[in-house]
Amino acid sequence: MARGMNMLVLMVFLGAAIQSCRAQTTHVVGDSLGWVVPPGGAIAYSTWAANETFVVGDTLVFNFTTGMDDVAKVTKAAYDSCNFTSPISRWTNGPATITLNQSGEHFFISTFDRRCSLGEKLAINVSAASGPAPAPTTTPTPPAASAPTPTTTPTRSPVTYTVGDVVGWNVLVNTTQAYALWAANKTFMVGDTLVFNFVNGTQNVAEVTKSAYDSCNTTSTISVYTVPPVRIILAAPGEHFYTSTYPDRCSLGQKLAINVTSSSATTPSPSPAATTPSPSSLSPATRPSSTATPPSTSTSPSPPSTTTTTSERRKKKTRRSL
Ligand SMILES: *[C@@H]1O[C@H](CO)[C@@H](O)[C@H](O)[C@H]1NC(C)=O
Ligand SMILES: *[C@@H]1O[C@H](CO)[C@@H](O)[C@H](O)[C@H]1NC(C)=O
Ligand SMILES: *[C@@H]1O[C@H](CO)[C@@H](O)[C@H](O)[C@H]1NC(C)=O
Ligand SMILES: *[C@@H]1O[C@H](CO)[C@@H](O)[C@H](O)[C@H]1NC(C)=O
Ligand SMILES: *[C@@H]1O[C@H](CO)[C@@H](O)[C@H](O)[C@H]1NC(C)=O
Ligand SMILES: *[C@@H]1O[C@H](CO)[C@@H](O)[C@H](O)[C@H]1NC(C)=O
Ligand SMILES: *[C@@H]1O[C@H](CO)[C@@H](O)[C@H](O)[C@H]1NC(C)=O
Ligand SMILES: *[C@@H]1O[C@H](CO)[C@@H](O)[C@H](O)[C@H]1NC(C)=O
Ligand SMILES: *[C@@H]1O[C@H](CO)[C@@H](O)[C@H](O)[C@H]1NC(C)=O
Ligand SMILES: *[C@@H]1O[C@H](CO)[C@@H](O)[C@H](O)[C@H]1NC(C)=O
Repeated sequence: MARGMNMLVLMVFLGAAIQSCRAQTTHVVGDSLGWVVPPGGAIAYSTWAANETFVVGDTLVFNFTTGMDDVAKVTKAAYDSCNFTSPISRWTNGPATITLNQSGEHFFISTFDRRCSLGEKLAINVSAASGPAPAPTTTPTPPAASAPTPTTTPTRSPVTYTVGDVVGWNVLVNTTQAYALWAANKTFMVGDTLVFNFVNGTQNVAEVTKSAYDSCNTTSTISVYTVPPVRIILAAPGEHFYTSTYPDRCSLGQKLAINVTSSSATTPSPSPAATTPSPSSLSPATRPSSTATPPSTSTSPSPPSTTTTTSERRKKKTRRSL
């Protein structure tokens, strides 16, 4: 008990010391203004951005109404001239959540009408993340690594899973089991997001029935998504089946089946990747499986990345050093 308290104090202290290394901040672009044609022109977003610190792994949320607007990632030249003929990426469903996975300058514009030239454009500088948990010389005791969420949070915050991780959504030459293996140790809950990465025009993502999945008959589908990266928010519990309608892809192994549990979470999960193991019961041998479960890309289950608390703290700490 006393040891637990000490660890907690130590974690809080370390957290304050190295927070910029670990915290992932969600930035709602323009805050309550959202993603619109700003009344005073583009200065609204440059002012907003100047007050934020963007680090690799953070997310931007562009809040707009689907069908009435969009957001496109573009080059500096395209940003400067509001040329939206060939964006790098484009998100059409609002609110759009975009993970900043590269450092450097990023440019976003609306491709609707003259909205960009009227000021609906955002340029930001993203700094590199300081690396994962820099070998803490001050914490020799192993339990520190798993201490952050002991008994306080019975449910975890939504997780974004990148399907296949680095290999993305594809036919892999060496195996037809890739996505079954990828899904095997993961816990999917209502509210989580699947991201399917692929090269535009070379794949699609089709949600299908179990029988279509089993037989690889894709003549009828529940829905088909064509524009990468495809982001699917898991809205309903139960089994979900995904494949591609491109010829032979399904039978070559481009298929994913998952079980989604409801987020009210009192149902005992059959998965070994339990969300809140008691730290004291963890042997060093079992801990890696719980830390290896979350995807590398964006959200991690332990620190709930609520917008205000983390960003507020980081603003206080890191703005001055830039
Ligand atoms: C900048 O951030 C601080 C702290 O979060 C806030 O109080 C202030 O209003 C912000 N300034 C602008 C111009 O948004
Ligand atoms: C997006 O805008 C709507 C309507 O203004 C608002 O209700 C909602 O809270 C906003 N979402 C975010 C993430 O700011
Ligand atoms: C817009 O960008 C495209 C592709 O980069 C280019 O071909 C076109 O000339 C540009 N249009 C203008 C008006 O600069
Ligand atoms: C993040 O990386 C993935 C590929 O790993 C890419 O498809 C996606 O567009 C990237 N996001 C941004 C905002 O660049
Ligand atoms: C990013 O930072 C560089 C170097 O400080 C600066 O020259 C550039 O204007 C910045 N870009 C944006 C979009 O803020
Ligand atoms: C199959 O290939 C992918 C991509 O090259 C690689 O990441 C994965 O480890 C390979 N799997 C096996 C079982 O060899
Ligand atoms: C899943 O977890 C078990 C036990 O934690 C481990 O033995 C197995 O290798 C894991 N499988 C994959 C595909 O990671
Ligand atoms: C993706 O490819 C389709 C054709 O396959 C094309 O119409 C569309 O403009 C492309 N989108 C992007 C963002 O490149
Ligand atoms: C595939 O499914 C469709 C309707 O879902 C059905 O009409 C068709 O006969 C099926 N094809 C095969 C080869 O089973
Ligand atoms: C989902 O869970 C049920 C019950 O545990 C199991 O029978 C089924 O095979 C699972 N489906 C998938 C796609 O993992």
